[in-house]
Amino acid sequence: MVGLGMIFDETYRPFFESCHEAPIFDRRVGSVDLRLVSVATRTGTRADQLMKCWSAASRPVFESFAGSDSVDRLLASDVHAVCIATPDDRHFEPARKALQAGKHVLIEKPAVLNLSELDELVELAGKRQVLCKIVYHKLLDPDHKKLRTLYRDGVLQHVNNGYCSLLEPKSISTGQFAEWISGRNPASYVAVHYLKLIDFTFGPDWRLKRIHATGQRGIVGSSNGSTWDSVQLQVTYEYPDAREATFDIHTSWVTPDNFPGYVDQEVQFRFDNSIWLAHQRKRGVELAIEGRTPQDFKNTPNYHYNGSFLEPWGERCQRGYGIEVISRFFQEVGYVEFGTRAQRTDRLAEMRSLTYNDVSADRNCVAIVQALEALLTRLASGDAGSWVEVNGSLGGLVLFSRNRSPEVLYSPAV
Ligand SMILES: NC(=O)c1ccc[n+]([C@@H]2O[C@H](COP(=O)([O-])OP(=O)(O)OC[C@H]3O[C@@H](n4cnc5c(N)ncnc54)[C@H](O)[C@@H]3O)[C@@H](O)[C@H]2O)c1
Repeated sequence: MVGLGMIFDETYRPFFESCHEAPIFDRRVGSVDLRLVSVATRTGTRADQLMKCWSAASRPVFESFAGSDSVDRLLASDVHAVCIATPDDRHFEPARKALQAGKHVLIEKPAVLNLSELDELVELAGKRQVLCKIVYHKLLDPDHKKLRTLYRDGVLQHVNNGYCSLLEPKSISTGQFAEWISGRNPASYVAVHYLKLIDFTFGPDWRLKRIHATGQRGIVGSSNGSTWDSVQLQVTYEYPDAREATFDIHTSWVTPDNFPGYVDQEVQFRFDNSIWLAHQRKRGVELAIEGRTPQDFKNTPNYHYNGSFLEPWGERCQRGYGIEVISRFFQEVGYVEFGTRAQRTDRLAEMRSLTYNDVSADRNCVAIVQALEALLTRLASGDAGSWVEVNGSLGGLVLFSRNRSPEVLYSPAV
């Protein structure tokens, strides 16, 4: 495990803890024992805290590596797979090193911030014959599975446009992420969830065409700096018959900490014959506890992501789509390494062909992130009204501005 921050606590930790209780099971493989054997972090502090808790609960100990060479030392230890949960702009190096060392890799979203890095990871995974996958847990949210099912079954026909928002509390930007937030933006951080949802659910028979973005500053950083409070991203796809579909995705990390839900999330899609409106914060439960909501408990909780429960049979557990997506990755690794059906190369090819999480299927998302980052840089330099065109006559990703000549961000086709 590289990085032991917020997402580790929310999803990886409960998953690894459940693995201590029971092996993971896939009927094509049998049961696979899984253990967290080593972690790499910047300072080692969170690893020490986790070690204390796990020792007290008689859970197996792991090795902890800290500092600038922590990833190299982790890779030298005996691990089969590496999960990367470092800050957004620090995924590429550990992923590259882990793939080079022949480890299966799971990367938190956004996978990487530009297409050249993505190309390198795809090539390395192919060369070293391992999996390189990305965590897109919203694809496992039951509501989104239903959306995709209805679309695939032709019930919802031809998406025309959509609006998605994901607004995080101030405590994220001013506390949890304070070490790495400088120069960052909330859209690369969370809009990617919806970019993948849109690309995976409604694609692949269309092409990414155009990207616009704007944003606001002045709360997390200065009003003329490079750290963004809120971002509004707009992405346009074109169908083979030249009709277009456009999606607006609003993100921020400056909502009040006393907001009744942890994050505000909303998804709207409009089709030729239908409309899908999902308020993903209000999942049907409203809760008020004197002196405890909305801080310790939220008024509108989402128990589908990683809820902790007392099962009817007495067991305590934590489950939800945030955890399920990690479990699924390890099932895929188990199938490649220990499956009995066909040859390893065939099993690997089968798992690499899963476009919901394979790094090779992330081109559109990474292209949009690269475009977004370039657009925000332009905006910060005072150049508003730029846009990026995809696979036009000048190259794969080209940044256009009113007052400058076009800049090629990525030459090959996206
Ligand atoms: N799937 C999701 O919904 C979701 C939610 C939150 C975060 N994330 C993603 O997970 C990643 C981590 O986010 P977080 O919220 O856990 O961040 P965080 O700031 O809480 O934790 C980051 C961790 O990375 C470690 N780290 C930093 N630099 C490192 C380096 N160079 N080498 C090794 N370790 C290093 C830190 O020590 C810390 O343990 C981000 O990319 C974020 O976008 C995903």
